[in-house]
Amino acid sequence: MSDTLHKDAHGETVDEGKRDFIYIATGAVAAAGVGSLAWPLVAQMGKAADTLAAGSVEVDVSKIAEGQQLKVLWRGKPVFIRHRTAKEISEAENTQLAVLPDPQTDNERLIPDTAGKLRPEMLVMIGVCTHFGCIPVGEAGDFDGWYCPCHGSHYDTSGRIRKGPAPTNMEIPDYQYISENVIKVG
Ligand code: FES
Repeated sequence: MSDTLHKDAHGETVDEGKRDFIYIATGAVAAAGVGSLAWPLVAQMGKAADTLAAGSVEVDVSKIAEGQQLKVLWRGKPVFIRHRTAKEISEAENTQLAVLPDPQTDNERLIPDTAGKLRPEMLVMIGVCTHFGCIPVGEAGDFDGWYCPCHGSHYDTSGRIRKGPAPTNMEIPDYQYISENVIKVG
């Protein structure tokens, strides 16, 4: 366990260095509130496929502080749920489509909540590089978003590819708000 990883009072592993909380869903439907079971993602990589094939995952996004990212394992893939800062939202919204290799507005990457409103502070996407499938690192790269160290792809604060070999933006999973603060992925 690295210096920044520790077990909290519930036996959960928390990485204070990255301020990431990592949740693994092992049931058909798993409630992944911030108080639920967590392990480092890497510890789950050797698990049998059936334990990784969670059909859907519910997450209370109100527990994710601004500037924090939650990682949820869903169908064997990490889903990043990032509570973006005002600066990150502004950068994402003020980017000209003409500079994007895979043009998509920030709003097109959001799904309305139960009141029909977009919540730009909450970005939900599959945290897999669209080049060869590595997991990008957050708050990194030339565009303040994510950086994939495998071959050098830079994603912006909307998860859109900006530079490097990845051909497309990080994918938005099938998700919906099922109440004011709970989203269901899958
Ligand atoms: S897998 Fe990410 S840049 Fe190649």
